[in-house]
Parts: sequence; C-alpha cells; structure tokens
Amino acid sequence: MDQAAGLRKLREDTPVVRTVPKKTSARIIAITSGKGGVGKTTFAVNLAISLAKERQKVLVLDGDLGLANINVILGIIPKYTLYHVIRGNKSLREIILQTTEGIDIVPGANGYAQLADLDSLSRESLIREFSELEEYDFIIIDTGAGISVNVISLVLAADEGIIVTTPEPTSITDSYGLIKSITQRNKDFPLSVVINKAKDELEGKKVAKRVIDISQKFLNVQPNELGIIYKDEDVEKSILAQKPFMTINSRSKASECMIKICNTLLHSQEVEKSDETIGLGGYLRKFFNLSDANKVTKI
Ligand SMILES: Nc1ncnc2c1ncn2[C@@H]1O[C@H](COP(=O)(O)OP(=O)(O)OP(=O)(O)O)[C@@H](O)[C@H]1O
Ligand SMILES: [Mg+2]
Repeated sequence: MDQAAGLRKLREDTPVVRTVPKKTSARIIAITSGKGGVGKTTFAVNLAISLAKERQKVLVLDGDLGLANINVILGIIPKYTLYHVIRGNKSLREIILQTTEGIDIVPGANGYAQLADLDSLSRESLIREFSELEEYDFIIIDTGAGISVNVISLVLAADEGIIVTTPEPTSITDSYGLIKSITQRNKDFPLSVVINKAKDELEGKKVAKRVIDISQKFLNVQPNELGIIYKDEDVEKSILAQKPFMTINSRSKASECMIKICNTLLHSQEVEKSDETIGLGGYLRKFFNLSDANKVTKI
C-alpha cells in the first residue's frame, strides 16, 4: 500500500466525530386577531408550509376553540385530538398528524378550553409530554379571535405574537383592542402585524401604519410590520379545494407575499427567553399560570 492509499484507509477507518451544535429551543409564535374570519388559520398553515420549504421543522397547534379549522384547510380528518390526551386516552405523540406538506399538526378540538381547568397533577403530566417534543424549530399556534382569557393566555405564553388584520375598519379597531389587552399585561411582549386581504401594496402599507400609529399614540407600544398578503382568488379556491395555497401554486400572488414574510421572519432576531419558558413544556406551564392569573383579574 502506498502512502496515499494508507492515509485514505486510515481516514476511512477513523470514525467521524461531528460536534452537533446544541439545538436551541423552538421559536413559539402565536397567530391571533381581534376580529374573526380575517385569515389567521389560512396564514398559520401556509406560513408553516413556507417555513418547512426552508428546511425548518414545524409543528402547528390548533388552539382555536371553534371549529377545528386547520384540518379543514388541509383536508384531513383527525381521529384523535388534544381532548384524548387530556382524558388520558392517548399520548401527545400519538395524536400528532404528519402531513404530506411536511408540517406536523396537533389537532385541537376543544382541548384548550379544558386545559385551563385541569388539576395540578394532570397539568404536570401534560407539561412533561409537551416537554418531550424537542425536535421542532418553529411552533405555530393558531388561536381563536378576540380578547378572551384563553386567547390572551395562548398568546402571552408564546415567545412572540402575530396579529392578522384586514383593511376593514372593524378589523383595525379590533386589532387595536387586542394589542391593548396583550400589552396591558406585558408591555414588552413582541408583537408583529400582518395585513391580509390587501388590495395592493399601498393599501396594505396604509393599514399597517394605521395600526402601528394608534398603538404608539395611545398605548406607547410599537408593533412591528411583518408584511402584507394580497387578496387573492387563489386563496379562496384553495380553501374550497382543501389544499393550502402554498401547495397548490407557490407562485401565486398570495404565495409570493407569504415567501417574503417567511424570509423576514427567518431573518428577524429571535427574542431571548428565560429558562423557564423554553420549549413547549415551558409554553404550557406559562399558559396555565397566565390563565389562572387572568381568570382572577377577568379580561
Ligand atoms: N389573502 C386572502 N385572499 C382572499 N381570501 C382570503 C385570504 N386570506 C383568507 N381568505 C379567506 O378568508 C376566509 C377566512 O379565513 P380563515 O378561516 O383563515 O380565517 P380565521 O381568521 O382563521 O377565522 P376564525 O376567526 O373563524 O378562526 C377563508 O374563507 C379564506 O378563503
Ligand atoms: Mg381560524
């Protein structure tokens, strides 16, 4: 064996020791709105798909207490939901749906309404189960609309919140009301706004400026403008087809807006977290504490 061949052999025989960088915990983002029907669920699912296309491992939690919308948008019918986990019939891992879009879903049903009423023993066991989900880069929580104790707690327990608003005046005022409710409880909570169903860039920018200006003027907080999504027929068609618009056509008007938002999000600085709030277990613990506290103070 010549020297080069010997070296090659040595290299082949030597086990490769890779230093795996320690995975920082998932970025937990709550998607919410003041007014209903503005496009939260559509946004949450399609944002998750955009992130997955960028090789991010994403879990979407259906935190909506109404209809289980995420399933409808994806055209899937879950057999088990968080309800079964709360009842102790299934483990959290058993109910997670892996979709062909490359994102994972925790079907919600009415689970979150009942979460807040669990006794401390069940809470702890659920926190343990949530803590085990360590493989995700992003966790997207789709909440219901409005300023109920549940929604506010689901948002404030996250690392950051995205408020979806449309150009409708009622949507703008309801967004303001929601920003007020959130920041009254935590003035420094990181909030962004996304303007959905905008006619064009100009309208979107105007609405974003309006929401940010009134927040600054009356609440002394400044939500960040994350982006604009155009009103697009393709989105409506995708809902009917029960296939996310990012899957049907990644070059539609709405998809291009979504890709831009996804990139902005990926390049934005992740907020610093304290140890106790890290990961999904920390999220759930914080949710319990907040919903207990908010129940007492009444929203
Ligand atoms: N960019 C868009 N262009 C056109 N239509 C849109 C757009 N985004 C959402 N929609 C439409 O708005 C409707 C409501 O969307 P979605 O269910 O996502 O709203 P939501 O905020 O989650 O509602 P809820 O408050 O009931 O949970 C859907 O029928 C969808 O077709
Ligand atoms: Mg919804």
